[in-house]
Amino acid sequence: MASRTIRIGLIGYGVVGQGIVQLLSDNAATIEGRLGAPIEIRRVVARSPDKVREIEPPEGTLSFDPDDVLNDPDIDIVVEVVGGIEPAKSFVQKAIESGKHVVTANKALLAEHSELIEFAESKGVDLYFEAAVAGGIPIIRLLREAFSSDRIIALRGIVNGTSNYILSRMTVAGLEFEEALREAQEKGFAEADPTLDIGGGDAAHKLTILTTLAYGARLTPDRIPTTGIEDVTAVDIHFANRFGYVIKPLAVARALDGGKLDLRVHPALVRRGSVLASISGALNAVYVEGAMLGPCLTSGLGAGALPTAMSVVSDIVDVGRNLLVGAHGRVPSRAFQGEHLKDMEVQDPGDHRCHWYLRFTVRDRPGILARIAGVLGASTVSIEQMVQEGIGQDDGPVVVVMLTHTSLERNLMGALEEIATLDDVVEPPMALRIEED
Ligand code: HSE
Repeated sequence: MASRTIRIGLIGYGVVGQGIVQLLSDNAATIEGRLGAPIEIRRVVARSPDKVREIEPPEGTLSFDPDDVLNDPDIDIVVEVVGGIEPAKSFVQKAIESGKHVVTANKALLAEHSELIEFAESKGVDLYFEAAVAGGIPIIRLLREAFSSDRIIALRGIVNGTSNYILSRMTVAGLEFEEALREAQEKGFAEADPTLDIGGGDAAHKLTILTTLAYGARLTPDRIPTTGIEDVTAVDIHFANRFGYVIKPLAVARALDGGKLDLRVHPALVRRGSVLASISGALNAVYVEGAMLGPCLTSGLGAGALPTAMSVVSDIVDVGRNLLVGAHGRVPSRAFQGEHLKDMEVQDPGDHRCHWYLRFTVRDRPGILARIAGVLGASTVSIEQMVQEGIGQDDGPVVVVMLTHTSLERNLMGALEEIATLDDVVEPPMALRIEED
């Protein structure tokens, strides 16, 4: 095996960039032992000289010009931790063009622009992205390598730490949504634009990548039916608990008979005591069901400087190993060889069947329950349990919560539209799926 130094250029010096520098310094000896060569940080590109940095880059490496990395012929691997689409996309493109290998943590970029992976393959360079999904959890490697002999039946993940943190704090500490979001932001889990977290966009990016790896599906995030957590209230958390459930932000991919995929990102009720119910705070988890293996759970921190840096640096080590033996492209980035990737049909959300949690806010008038039940019944939605809490004082509204038997989403949504127009229904009904694992 060739013995030489692996030289990297780091573009982006925020939380993750600084974590990478710290980790490479703290774990240098262990990493060299595993790789068989030292890793040298040749250049660190930060956005601005004025930004306060907790970890100083190695002496003489700091620059503010990405071309100092992209045009340096001695740099083997470009590490992109800028985030977002542009200018990160141009950096990655230029790096590949000049024959450099790339390690990135950028889920939005890979989910929206998988052509970059094809470009890397055509140029014979590695493009690795373990940190792009669930931060420190090695789910990409798991799907790409450990599951290469299995068929994946289903994959259910909690892949947005901010959303999980918010719902957990609302559950455990009784916080309001806004308060819990503020806490998550202070702790640094949230994206610069937190609507990506709470609106489900971040989870949809991650599910796009996971689905490609699990099923060999060519996919873009806009094909994933996505609902955020912003409409979940303390009242929903209270009633879910009363029925024996907790509310979790889920990303689901399932193979259906007939070759379609069931893909969904949404908050859902999961049974208290189930595997995913125990994944609390900012933790992420991915629960994979293999046809041969059966269930397999991975859980850990999906964000934060060192957990994310751990995944990035492990990718650097992998690419470094490939460099040392000249084995680029040995493991396909998307788990499947390019020619075996396929366009797969995504199930119309209306065709999804599950149990539902429904919350109605109504004026406590004679007959209102019968009218709601009548509309549900006419749509073949059958009520399994029901509870009304509180007494409507001075004509004030009361909350009625129902759990349904398995119902078709199309039928249920049609019924809710009609119920929303009934006299004495004072708020749009809330519906949450119940997910069984
Ligand atoms: N904002 C993301 C989350 C972290 O909350 O999980 C990075 O993917």
